[in-house]
Amino acid sequence: MFEAETINTADKAEFYRQLAQQLQGLFDGETDMIANAANMSAFIYQMLPDLNWAGVYFLKGEQLVLGPFQGKPACVRIPVGRGVCGAAIERRSSVLVEDVHAFPGHIACDAASRSELVVPIFRKGEAIGVIDLDSPLPARFDRADQAGIEQLAEIFGASFQ
Ligand code: SME
Repeated sequence: MFEAETINTADKAEFYRQLAQQLQGLFDGETDMIANAANMSAFIYQMLPDLNWAGVYFLKGEQLVLGPFQGKPACVRIPVGRGVCGAAIERRSSVLVEDVHAFPGHIACDAASRSELVVPIFRKGEAIGVIDLDSPLPARFDRADQAGIEQLAEIFGASFQ
């Protein structure tokens, strides 16, 4: 098992390749969206060090609505365009925030959060939600984490009907 704080970018890419394989195995032909979101949240929370929240929000109309997650209870509805999650779904692209206090409109669900990574989930080309990761460490996530979580989001988006 890799230690995230000591690994370089190449090792991180390999770490995420292994996570992607394991996530695929975890879904194992299961096509239920909520079941797979629940297992993915638990898997990410268990495998990545230094997280205080890991979960999914689903796009419903003009709002993101809380889905399965690990961590403290969180805000249930986030309007598109608000907070880090709302920015990611509006832009249809990942948002990496090294310091949440410096992000205008950041929604603090857990006061311990210092950095955040939000990755959109696409299904058949359509953005249907986001994966949200929070860390109590500043600048916990880098571009290699972003690329790795985008891989997991792709596997998740292809897993359900
Ligand atoms: N911080 C997020 C809200 C969700 S919680 O972190 C779980 C945001 O600004 O969108």
